[in-house]
Amino acid sequence: MSEHLATSLRTDGAGTLRASDAGRSVILCGWVHRRRDHGRLVFLDLRDRYGLVQCVANPERLDPDVYRIVEDLRTEDVIQVEGRVIARPPASVNEELETGRVEVDLTGCRRLSEANTPPFPVDMEKGGGEVAEEMRLKHRFIELRRPNPTAALGMRHRLALETRRYLDGHGFWEIETPILTRPTPEGARDYLVPSRVHPGKFYALPQSPQLYKQLLMIAGYDRYFQIARCFRDEDLRADRQPEFTQIDLEMAFVEQEDVLRVVDGLVRHLFQVCLGVEIDDIPRIPYEEAMARFGSDKPDLRIAHELVDASEPFRASGFEVFDAALGEGGRVVVLRVPGGADASRSILDRWTEGARAAGARGLVWARRSSDGWKSSIDKFVPADRWSEAGRLAGADPGDLLLAVAGGMRAAQGAMGSLRVQLARERGWLAGGTAWRPLWVVDFPLFERGEGGPPAPSHHPFTAPRGGRAALEAADPLSVVALAYDLVLNGYELGSGSIRIHDRTVQERVFEILGIGSDEAVEKFGFLLRALDYGAPPHGGIAIGFDRLAMLFAGAQSLREVIAFPKTTSASALLEGSPSAAGAAELEELHLRVLPPGGDS
Ligand code: AMO
Repeated sequence: MSEHLATSLRTDGAGTLRASDAGRSVILCGWVHRRRDHGRLVFLDLRDRYGLVQCVANPERLDPDVYRIVEDLRTEDVIQVEGRVIARPPASVNEELETGRVEVDLTGCRRLSEANTPPFPVDMEKGGGEVAEEMRLKHRFIELRRPNPTAALGMRHRLALETRRYLDGHGFWEIETPILTRPTPEGARDYLVPSRVHPGKFYALPQSPQLYKQLLMIAGYDRYFQIARCFRDEDLRADRQPEFTQIDLEMAFVEQEDVLRVVDGLVRHLFQVCLGVEIDDIPRIPYEEAMARFGSDKPDLRIAHELVDASEPFRASGFEVFDAALGEGGRVVVLRVPGGADASRSILDRWTEGARAAGARGLVWARRSSDGWKSSIDKFVPADRWSEAGRLAGADPGDLLLAVAGGMRAAQGAMGSLRVQLARERGWLAGGTAWRPLWVVDFPLFERGEGGPPAPSHHPFTAPRGGRAALEAADPLSVVALAYDLVLNGYELGSGSIRIHDRTVQERVFEILGIGSDEAVEKFGFLLRALDYGAPPHGGIAIGFDRLAMLFAGAQSLREVIAFPKTTSASALLEGSPSAAGAAELEELHLRVLPPGGDS
């Protein structure tokens, strides 16, 4: 029974009928999913958001005019049917269908809307899987009729609802923050919106509600959250969209531990109610350790294999690439490939390509057989060095060692990326526990800027561990931040920090970042001013809501869990955006469009 779905046009949702409905007279609405003629009997699969139900038109019992309508129906026509729910005889029960124990014996049928032949079938059994994405996005309203997108949007809805429920239960208020605002420094380009009433001025769409949530803490709203839309003009990938959604939250009177505890609880709740999965305590790994063991600040813990620092065995080995890297304070990082000794030349070439694409200068390998070691650099490095590296990595006969040398982060990062590639290729994920969330903590506050002053690792409002005194360190790159990332199965799911709530500390950070005091006042004056009027200690996090929905729905791309996503070139193919503006509109906005590549 699904009385809550009853409207003037239907009594039930088509896909909601179950064995307990047998004997009821129902009126259903939906789309013709499939029509099959069995002699004079016509079977219709009627589809709506809730699923499919089989309807039968029997000419012996049906008014001939109605039968003619049924005979005439085409796939994707919208219809209203009347009939009696009957239990299927045991032999025709379809266990794969939730409605598979019943069918509807039609007494009436009305076509509400005719459909053209769709550009691709909704019915996945009709080979609908290989349609080009461009075609699917252009007709997204048709693709959304399919079961996977429907399940994904259902999961997304549930996640949003349960997030609200959980956070409300923990004292959080949902507060909206502006969409037309000033640039927020989250590291991407801004989307700008020209102002009609202020010629030559622009609003920026928010890259995140970061500064507003801090202002809300200063205003005394000590637990805020928002399922917030964010906009970033950056290079897109499968896990990035130009507009995306965050579960954004902020708390006052807290330390890092308090934020992590609330988020642990939220994550545990979402796993429980949306997936029926109990997760263990979420482990915490310092950034340095994550880089050393996994070569990534978002390690996929389902992959058991770890990197090993083999710098010592290779010190002064005579191999110039290693010696140069180690001489400059770099590292030799190795990865053991169990049973990899028989990897062919072409496989090794592919891995070398993988390492190069991830920033390594090259990849060196050594096979261990029962006779000892044979490496790609035998000419330069004696086998006993490999024995020692192999001992550190736990290599057995039949294993392969891969090695990359370079600056510490570069070598770790390249090998980390290769670790993920090999896991995919060699099935290292198979049999691993499906969900492995973790916290990466103790990030550096700054990272090396490109030729200029340091850049913020997270954003410039993150507090240093040790307060103002820590900022006086000779090397700013050694300062640790009160920042943390939530990671799930190789994806950065969320990122947050304890914020600076003391104006002098904030000004010092701006100074280290090379933001002069005039520029700081111009860009962030409103925050600095607010810090002067009673700012509590505060901190928070933002969780990528689309990424969460993608992982929970088992999807491969954010596009699958967003109702109307953009392509990788940030276009919306369905409605055709971005689009040109008319001359009158441009005039009103005080804008003139230069021809592409033009300079006048
Ligand atoms: P950050 O920039 O790390 O932090 O973003 C937080 C999380 O948002 C998700 N995310 C994205 N998802 C889809 N498409 C994108 N283009 C995209 N960019 C980011 C990621 C990421 O972990 N204001 C801070 C948070 C804070 O400090 O509280 C912020 O926005 O999952």
